[in-house]
Amino acid sequence: MITDNEFKRIVLYVKNNYGIDLSQKRVLVGGRLENYLVRNGYASYDDYMAKVEANPKGTEATDLINVLTTNHTYFMRESTHFDYMRRVVLPWAKTKAGKDRDLRIWSAASSTGEEPYTLAMLLMDYFGLEHKTWDTKVLATDVSTRVLEHATRGIYLKEEIGPLPPKWKQRFFKRINEEEYQVKDELKKEVIFRQFNLMNPFPFRKQFHIVFLRNVMIYFPDDTKYQVIQKIYDHMEPGGYLFIGTTESLNRGKTQFQYIEPSIYRKQGN
Ligand SMILES: C[S@@+](CC[C@H](N)C(=O)[O-])C[C@H]1O[C@@H](n2cnc3c(N)ncnc32)[C@H](O)[C@@H]1O
Repeated sequence: MITDNEFKRIVLYVKNNYGIDLSQKRVLVGGRLENYLVRNGYASYDDYMAKVEANPKGTEATDLINVLTTNHTYFMRESTHFDYMRRVVLPWAKTKAGKDRDLRIWSAASSTGEEPYTLAMLLMDYFGLEHKTWDTKVLATDVSTRVLEHATRGIYLKEEIGPLPPKWKQRFFKRINEEEYQVKDELKKEVIFRQFNLMNPFPFRKQFHIVFLRNVMIYFPDDTKYQVIQKIYDHMEPGGYLFIGTTESLNRGKTQFQYIEPSIYRKQGN
């Protein structure tokens, strides 16, 4: 059983390093870590946390965040966003980025890849024959190395690719057996997966036209949430679009982003 002090120690570490608030998630933390401790031969949570804290870049710390993050996602999630992209955002972006043909899109909590791959398919479909003459690669980042490995492998169950339009399934996936399908190289090379912790300073040199930050801020306390939002604002092109989860919202007084419609925001400018 996890003690009060051990639980507090883990909550504090995860909040300080990853922004994630687990203070109300005692059952989740205890349950998920217990298996890990048993498998890896630790006598207590404190023993394990001593290792984690001694080396925040080490295997134990990587495992901790891999175990404690919640990575639920699926293809075409919140599909109104992809309709809005096609109808409004991409026509704008095509003009905006037309000079250099360099469209910069970031899926900032990409989990196992369903969101950035959906975006990449939409882009290839939207640009059609012109796609060859554009750079529309999607940057996909997440703090968990486990989900990024899954995303890079690009193997999904038949049911998981179910929500995709049949012509996308046919064009972008190859069947590997009864149950599983794999993303074809043509699509894989359109997404760049990198590990990135949203708590860190942003290393990006160029500004983004479009950012998807969906269903991750729910884990952050309010002050952390608006710090991340401000960093994103500072790294976007004027007029750029931000998509957040459809159950999330930004308080008008706390952000410079302009509200467009529920879960869609825009940086000032054009
Ligand atoms: C529920 S998933 C959302 C996936 C996708 N955006 C969607 O809406 O379907 C949340 C993801 O946020 C990631 N995450 C949590 N804290 C993070 C942080 N500090 N930096 C980067 N990613 C983080 C988790 O690892 C997880 O994969």
